[in-house]
Amino acid sequence: MKKIAVLTSGGDAPGMNACIRAVVRYAIYNELTVYGVERGYNGLINNNMKILDRRSVGDMIHRGGTFLKTARCAEFNTLEGQREAARVIRERDIDGLVVIGGDGSMRGARDLTVNFGIPTVGIPGTIDNDLAYTDYTLGFDTAVNTALSAINNLRDTMTSHDRVCIIEVMGRHCGDIALYAGLAGGAEEILVPEMPLDIDAIADKLKQGASRGKMSSMIVLAEGAGKAGDVAKLIEEKTGASIRITTLGHIQRGGMPTMADRVLAAKFAVRAVELLKEGKGNRVIGIRDNKVIDMDIVEGLSMKREFDEYLYNVAAVLSL
Ligand code: ADP
Ligand code: F6P
Repeated sequence: MKKIAVLTSGGDAPGMNACIRAVVRYAIYNELTVYGVERGYNGLINNNMKILDRRSVGDMIHRGGTFLKTARCAEFNTLEGQREAARVIRERDIDGLVVIGGDGSMRGARDLTVNFGIPTVGIPGTIDNDLAYTDYTLGFDTAVNTALSAINNLRDTMTSHDRVCIIEVMGRHCGDIALYAGLAGGAEEILVPEMPLDIDAIADKLKQGASRGKMSSMIVLAEGAGKAGDVAKLIEEKTGASIRITTLGHIQRGGMPTMADRVLAAKFAVRAVELLKEGKGNRVIGIRDNKVIDMDIVEGLSMKREFDEYLYNVAAVLSL
């Protein structure tokens, strides 16, 4: 093992830069050469990569985004695209690849290792927290804290005016950002794609709350659970309330990674380099019960994600 490469793919996530930095510095410490591949799988297919030294990752640990850039690469979904990427990796005598990305990027990593025998280790980097085999993904903590900070601000003005508000956060298929930000922000309602949307129940709860003197309510909506405008209209019709809407959007994808994400980045990166050094190049890395774990990439990606209904119910009880 002499040369490895690292890339970021799919939606960016805070902590990706800290993770690249840790991969680079730990690999160099282990006397490996590291290539940084630009724009995800596009950079492999187009042979777009450069050697990263210790200094090239200086002043990066606190920056959101990814300095290697990221992309979605349709060509890599095809066997031809993957074959070309594998050819470039072999031509450059690269012995192993670290992929930092979400569910889709991990599937790409799996295909490279399963179909073409390229030793590949996947690090979960996405704000969505939608990978079943790990308790947390890199970037999730920062995104939730960004959403929480927005909820805090909204709470000030909504309470002052006795208003109801909906804040829409990201998460097309996974409601974890809404769940964690909602619980931590004391939201009255948390609406997620994993649970049925019951407008009557929401309206009843708001009315009951109002009858007990709760004049302001916060509804946190994951984008996959419905459009904020539509949901607001339906609730307004049932309650007579005038609802204000905030869509947080890509604000929650950027920003300085939290301590938790920076530490996770370091732990994930070190394990990834160690695995490649040990010749275990078909693994995904995660964290479970606060311990870094790794498992077979095919097995890890075939696991089915379970929504934390217990936490969801706790949030509902605490918001009464
Ligand atoms: P994320 O990694 O954030 O989930 P995407 O789902 O957009 O983001 O995936 C990022 C990239 O990973 C895609 O553009 C594609 O290049 C690659 N990819 C996604 N799904 C697959 C798949 N099933 N097989 C091979 N490559 C994939
Ligand atoms: O996967 C991360 C994510 O931010 C999702 O939460 C969101 O639905 C999507 O990416 C937005 O993607 P785009 O980069 O295309 O705006």
